[in-house]
Amino acid sequence: MSELKNKTIAEIVSEDISTASVFKKYHIDFCCGGGKTVENACIKANVNVDDVINDLINNIPKNNTPSLNFKDWSAEFLTDYIVNVHHTYVKENMEIIHEFATKVATVHGHHATETIEIAELFSKLRDELYAHLDKEETILFPAIRMKAIDQNYQYDKEVISILEDEHEHAGDIVKKITFLSNNFTTPEWACNTFKALYFKLDEFINDLYQHIHLENNILFSKVK
Ligand SMILES: [Fe+2]
Ligand SMILES: [Fe+2]
Repeated sequence: MSELKNKTIAEIVSEDISTASVFKKYHIDFCCGGGKTVENACIKANVNVDDVINDLINNIPKNNTPSLNFKDWSAEFLTDYIVNVHHTYVKENMEIIHEFATKVATVHGHHATETIEIAELFSKLRDELYAHLDKEETILFPAIRMKAIDQNYQYDKEVISILEDEHEHAGDIVKKITFLSNNFTTPEWACNTFKALYFKLDEFINDLYQHIHLENNILFSKVK
């Protein structure tokens, strides 16, 4: 614990770029103010150092999730899982990534023009995803849950093909971002915000692929 307190923000973020989100959450500058120790940065940001340390310790990468047998789950249980795990993740992380992307494009756009395009594409993806998640949470998923209670309940399944088209469109944007970022490879001169942007984008896109796979290939095929 005290060891972490006395490490500098730059050391921690350099060792594990995923910790950038923890510092971001507490408004601690990990890019330009990275030379400060965690303790000093917390004092300056007026936040409780123990809260920050706890979050750093609990910052377990998402890909540690065990493999689950989704195919055996009921459709209504899957809708709860998708909302609680994937929709929550998307909503929690979109704003952070949007902020990183805007910052990197503003600072580095003149000599790394792909960052401007990435910021624009992510902004488009974000707008589309908000509307898409809303459609699932207010139209399709409640209908699937109603059907689980009442087998005679009927609903318009046209919404499924709309959602599938939207998945495909999101997939196209994601492929462009992956290509422009050279598969999330940061240039040698990249600052910590740039590194955090590509790390988070990579994580976000992996989550989105899993999320879309669960909906297209498992949930929708159960209810069609
Ligand atoms: Fe979804
Ligand atoms: Fe979806």
